[in-house]
Amino acid sequence: MRIDPANPVPPTGIVRRIGRDQVPDHVPPELVFEPGLTYGPEFLADPHKFMAEMHGKYPPVFYNVGPFGNMWSVIKHEDALFVLRHAELFSNEDATPFPRDPAEWFYFIPIEIDPPDHRKYRNIVDPIVSPQGVLKLEDRIRALANDLIDDFIDKGECTFDEAFGRPLPVLVFLDLMGLPRAMCDTFVSWAMALLHSNDRQIMGDTLKTIGDYLKTAIAEKQASPDDGLVSRIVHAEIDGQPISEREAFGFVTFLFIAGLDTVFATLNLIWVWLAQNPERRQEIIDNPDKINAVVEELLRVHSVTFSGRTVAQDVTLRGIQLKKGDKITSILPACNFDPGVFPNPTEVDFNRPKKIILAFTVGVHSCMGAHLARLEVKIALQEWLRRIPEFRMKHGFKAEYRPGGVVGPETVPLVWDVALIP
Ligand code: HEM
Repeated sequence: MRIDPANPVPPTGIVRRIGRDQVPDHVPPELVFEPGLTYGPEFLADPHKFMAEMHGKYPPVFYNVGPFGNMWSVIKHEDALFVLRHAELFSNEDATPFPRDPAEWFYFIPIEIDPPDHRKYRNIVDPIVSPQGVLKLEDRIRALANDLIDDFIDKGECTFDEAFGRPLPVLVFLDLMGLPRAMCDTFVSWAMALLHSNDRQIMGDTLKTIGDYLKTAIAEKQASPDDGLVSRIVHAEIDGQPISEREAFGFVTFLFIAGLDTVFATLNLIWVWLAQNPERRQEIIDNPDKINAVVEELLRVHSVTFSGRTVAQDVTLRGIQLKKGDKITSILPACNFDPGVFPNPTEVDFNRPKKIILAFTVGVHSCMGAHLARLEVKIALQEWLRRIPEFRMKHGFKAEYRPGGVVGPETVPLVWDVALIP
């Protein structure tokens, strides 16, 4: 069905299938698997190892069944490129799992909007988050990184996620949105409940809480415009008409969800790796001119999320019949470990030939915050390694992951010798 952003309605004709009992007839039984992706014990023990090893264990395209929904899954880089680049075959209708009140339906914008309407929304925000746009934020991000480090450097230890990994991207994001920094912890707890509970009741209640807050923020920006993204969206025009209340709400709400957890999870993963690989840390320090390649490679092996689509018309992929209404997900971290594209895929190699990485996807829905995220990771690496070049995980550390659509360790306790601080 064509999505009409101005008249949001709950998806029709899309069946939410759950479990083995609800595998459609056109799915060959030999392609049905239950890997426990995002929730099973084997996955949670080491999610990225699990996703790298999927290449030896599952067919390139398989039907993934589980308690949170059944879907086709693709793990090959080229298949993900095909799915993500063909919006006419793979729609973003019903692309997010977040429950909403059917009587007050709204779309998460831009993620649930298909072309051509999708571009109208991206045009509102893209100039601010373009490569040139985010460069304007560089000095502020660098200053914030240093302020955060000042708070704990002399202690010889920190809980990285709380002291740096979370506040750095979240405070930058709140400044960008024009939302108050004082709400940082509250916003993060809402995002965590929404993205990691896997309980539709909790997700629905949390979304309502977030929505109530954002409605007030939107009303404030309507009355008193400022330079933030919320204000920019609220005062935007679509096809020469003021953006509607529902559109503005859906756009601001999705941005809020997308911007809070992803960089945080990425930084946490990267810092665990850095702490456990001192010689590779030194390699980064010794090669400052390679920093962009370093960021790209670290994002490849530590990508944190997935891309879900709905099949818009019957189509064949690798000889397999996908039917209109089927769900399909690109397992982006697995695609980034595709050995056919990235030889020795789990090896971190800063000298790899340049290839498309799928941390942020490609195609019309490629991540709107990708340039900001890359800049944040780069600055975090530069400033942290300049000031705390030697550090390790606290004794007895064992990474723990919680189920959900954004993958990262729960907590990252670090220690260092204060005497070795340069
Ligand atoms: C390392 C950090 C990040 C990662 C790994 C990431 C990943 C992704 C991915 C994979 C998608 C595509 C989803 C799909 O195709 O279904 C996406 C979309 C999006 N991301 Fe990010 N993201 C990150 C940071 C951010 C930040 C900081 C923001 C906000 C400033 C943001 C805003 C968005 C938006 C608005 C979309 C939807 C784009 C569209 O539908 O056109 N992301 N992100």
